[in-house]
Amino acid sequence: MKIDTLILGAGAAGLFCGARAAARGRKVLVLDHAKKPADKVRISGGGRCNFTNLHTEPKAFLSENPHFAKSALARYGPWDFCSLMAEHGLSWTEKTLGQLFCDQKSGAVIKLLLDELEQAGGELRLQTTIGEVRHTGTHFEVLTSEGAFEAESLVIATGGLSIPKMGATGFAYDLARQFGHDIIPTRPALVPLTFTGKLHEDFAAISGVSIPVEARAETGPSFVENLLFTHRGLSGPAILQISSYWHESQPVSIDLLPGADAREMLHALRADQPKATLAQAFAASFPARFADMLASQPTMPTKRLAELSNQDIDQIAQILKAWRFTPVGTEGWRTAEVTAGGINTNGLSSQTLESKHQPGLFFIGECVDVTGWLGGYNFQWAWASAAAAAEVV
Ligand code: FDA
Repeated sequence: MKIDTLILGAGAAGLFCGARAAARGRKVLVLDHAKKPADKVRISGGGRCNFTNLHTEPKAFLSENPHFAKSALARYGPWDFCSLMAEHGLSWTEKTLGQLFCDQKSGAVIKLLLDELEQAGGELRLQTTIGEVRHTGTHFEVLTSEGAFEAESLVIATGGLSIPKMGATGFAYDLARQFGHDIIPTRPALVPLTFTGKLHEDFAAISGVSIPVEARAETGPSFVENLLFTHRGLSGPAILQISSYWHESQPVSIDLLPGADAREMLHALRADQPKATLAQAFAASFPARFADMLASQPTMPTKRLAELSNQDIDQIAQILKAWRFTPVGTEGWRTAEVTAGGINTNGLSSQTLESKHQPGLFFIGECVDVTGWLGGYNFQWAWASAAAAAEVV
């Protein structure tokens, strides 16, 4: 079968690119090995799909080349997707920090993508196994369980490695290597951090407790959001955000009182409640279970407040403002929301996402070394990179 534009991967990026290329009059076919399209859209945002972020700007994306995403993001922004949602009768709610969620749930976003593809004349085929891919010198030839396809343009939108149970594969990276691309080492991102020993026991014992913090890894920005204690370690948006910047054996640092002066607070508590224990003092600022656990840390003095020297107070304040410990790892691909690293942007055009090694070959979405923060940024990258490629595929 001969087509103009063959797209591999019917996720957020692949379907959107297919719809926009078909709207240009291209004969488009989207192939996927899964039973259903866009499964990650379905489970995203707790079923409500956090489809974009109003604060989209390049600094919210990790990449070896922080400039790469600028062009595509500037040409297709959050309001462009909002307009499309409105055209389809969908509405949204900003939950927090610019994060827009679909009021009609994620299934409605998938329907939007499928309707756009169909109305533009694009075709989708599921449960198709992709085999050998080659370029003959004039076109691409792709062998599949449904036969051989010939295409002028080939778009790879098969995503990253997160959640293999949902059908994630390294297909994009293998194909990129086949055509001479470098891969920035991949690692799970937006993923809970794990611990062993006493910290693991302490965190597991208060599993379910959530507190607002300012968290930071050794590199990257800090994030003021919630931290959640779990049976395995730490999660919650603050931790997921810093996990994308975290590297093995590096410590993380948690400010337990973001925006507050811990020293001043402790001096005031010592004056007001001299007989209180540290756990009682901490309970003024934190949930009781966390206050007890924090007071029992080996670095905390075991004295009543009246007995604390100014030096003790300095030491406690320092821990409250920068509690440092080293995770042993992450929960890995099983629960990671995205893949950090991926196809090196050096080999791609930032205008069109076309390969510099093989004209007609494009890589879009999560497989590219562009990873967004938590909060709708990854879908915005999927839409923007798909739109950029769709102009020329
Ligand atoms: P995606 O992974 O969506 O699509 C790839 C497609 O390719 C899949 O349909 C897959 O079946 C197919 N495929 C893979 N290998 C193949 C092969 N070898 N042959 C054929 N087909 C193949 N982001 C966000 O912005 N807001 C949010 O609310 C969330 N929430 C969220 C929750 C959870 C639990 C996860 C795991 C992830 C998120 N994300 C998110 C991240 C977001 O889902 C992700 O960034 C995008 O889905 C990436 O879109 P792509 O189209 O690039 O890949």
